[in-house]
Amino acid sequence: MAVLPIVTLGNPVLRERSREVTREELLSPPMQAFIDDLVETMVHANGAGLAAPQVANPVRICAIWVKDNPRYPYKPNWPLTILVNPVLTPLSAEEFVNYEGCLSVPNLRGEVKRFAELRVEAWDRQGNALSYEVRGLTAGTFQHECDHLDGKVFLDRVFDTTSLATWAEFEKHKLEGFAARARSIVQRWGS
Ligand code: NI
Repeated sequence: MAVLPIVTLGNPVLRERSREVTREELLSPPMQAFIDDLVETMVHANGAGLAAPQVANPVRICAIWVKDNPRYPYKPNWPLTILVNPVLTPLSAEEFVNYEGCLSVPNLRGEVKRFAELRVEAWDRQGNALSYEVRGLTAGTFQHECDHLDGKVFLDRVFDTTSLATWAEFEKHKLEGFAARARSIVQRWGS
């Protein structure tokens, strides 16, 4: 296993639509090794998620894992999840305002609107079809990672640029307010 370099804003691979993976390709040893590396890279960088294009591989695969994350202390834990060829469908028009950051957009956070409840359809890393619902902050994480597969970053969804903050200023000026909002999101949606 290996920690891969994470590419940052300006690298064209972050702006491509990543391609679907076939089941045969997914099950191949190189792709399975790549998924191990994607997870190791995410853990190494303290990410709550990481999408394949962020390590310069434009395939529709992303990893999500929230376990007492120091970058996002208010995020509920979520078990390690690999999504292959994911499709997200909002279950209602309801949205909430999330404060997001991204390993490919170093030292910047900003407010984006995310759907509050989604159906997730994807394969797991063995190619088994999964279908389940996610809500609240977890739904925000899923939308953030799946956006990467379509060449989007959270900055594209920032609706008020005065919300942009470096990480140090976020902690000084925004964390307390957002953590309170995050608690009410978790209370409302259960995650
Ligand atoms: Ni990101």
